Amino acid sequence: MTDNRPRVFSGIQPTGRKTLGNYSGGFRQYVQTQEQGDAFFCIVDLHSITVDYDPTELHESTLDLAALLFASGLDAERSTVFCQSHVTAHAEAAWLLSAVTSYGQLGRMTQFKDKSAGREFVSAGLFTYPVLMAGDILLYQTDLVPIGDDQRQHLELARDVAERFNHRFGETFRIPEGVFPEIGGRIMDLQEPTKKMSTTLSSEQGAVYMTDPPDAIRKKFKSAVTDSEREIRYDPDGKPGISNLLEIMSVATGEPIAELERRFAGAGYGEFKEAVGEAVVELLAPIRERFEALRSDERELQRLLAVGAEKARRVAEPTLEAMYERMGFVQVEAGRLFGAARPRGL
Ligand code: AMP
Ligand code: TRP
Repeated sequence: MTDNRPRVFSGIQPTGRKTLGNYSGGFRQYVQTQEQGDAFFCIVDLHSITVDYDPTELHESTLDLAALLFASGLDAERSTVFCQSHVTAHAEAAWLLSAVTSYGQLGRMTQFKDKSAGREFVSAGLFTYPVLMAGDILLYQTDLVPIGDDQRQHLELARDVAERFNHRFGETFRIPEGVFPEIGGRIMDLQEPTKKMSTTLSSEQGAVYMTDPPDAIRKKFKSAVTDSEREIRYDPDGKPGISNLLEIMSVATGEPIAELERRFAGAGYGEFKEAVGEAVVELLAPIRERFEALRSDERELQRLLAVGAEKARRVAEPTLEAMYERMGFVQVEAGRLFGAARPRGL
C-alpha cells in the first residue's frame, strides 16, 4: 500500500526538563501533525553530547522524554518514535553531508553563538550540530518539519545543504518545509519576558516545566513579571509580559487572543495571571499523570523504542545508500554492514 500523505519529521533533545515552550513549539505540533502525515519523532540523543553533560542523566532523561512524548498524545500505532543513536544512518549522513555544508554558514548560526559564548570549552560537535540535524531531516525524505521559531535558521541550513547535494550529486533529497505555530512559536521566560523560555538558560521561576505539580505552576504564574501600564492588550514589543501570558493562555485553551482581550478587558493583572495559571494546570495535569504511569514501566518504553528504531532504519536506509552511491563510494554486493542484506537505491 502506498502512502501519499506528507512525511513529517521532528527531533527533540533529551536534555533537561521540557518546558511549556517545548510544549508549544514542539509536543503540541507533533500531536497535530501526526494526524496529517506519516510521522517520525526522533529523540536526538546524539545532539545532546555537544554541550557538557552527564552520562547517567542522559540515560534517564532519554527515557523521561520517551514517556513524555507518549504522554502528550503521540500514538505508537500511528507515529514512529525512536532514538537517534539507534539508527546509525544519522551519524553517517552527518559526515557525508559535511562535504556540502559551508563552514561560514555554520559560524553564522545564532544557537552556536549563544551556546558557545563565554565558554572555556566549545566542542567541535556544537559547531557541526546543524549538519547532524540536516541529516535527520533529509534521510526521511521529509516534507514537513514541525518546530519552534528558534529552529528556523537550522531548517534553512538543512534546505541549503539538500539543494547543494542535489545540484552536485543529482536529485536525492526532498526539500523540507518548516511548520511553525501561529501563536506560541516562541514562549518567553515568565521572569524575563524579553528572553526565550529555555530548558538550560531560564531560572526555576522563569520556566514552567511540563511535569511541574499544579501548585508550582500556579505559583510561577502568580509571580510572573507584567508591565506597568494596567491594560490586558497584545503588544509583544510594548508589553512583552502580558503578551506572553496572552499567548500562553491561547495555547492552553485554544481561544484566539482577540477573544481573550475582550474577556479580560477591565480585569486586574492578579485575576488575569491566576486564570492563565489555572488554564495551564488544566492543560498539563493530565499529561503529568500519564507521564508518571508510562515512566514507571521501563521495559515497555524500551520495547516501543525498539519498534520505532526498526521502522526508522528501514525508511532511512535507501536514502543513505543513494547518498553513498551518488557520492562515488564503491558498492559491493554484501553491502557495507557485515554482509547484512540492505535495500539499494531510492
Ligand atoms: P529542544 O528541547 O531544544 O530540543 O526543542 C524542542 C522543540 O521545542 C523545538 O522545536 C524548539 O523549537 C521548541 N522550543 C524550545 N523552546 C521553545 C520556546 N520557548 N517557545 C516555543 N518553542 C520552543
Ligand atoms: N535542534 C533541534 C532543537 O534543539 C532538535 C533537532 C535535532 C531537530 N534534529 C532535528 C528538530 C530535526 C527538527 C528536525 O530543538
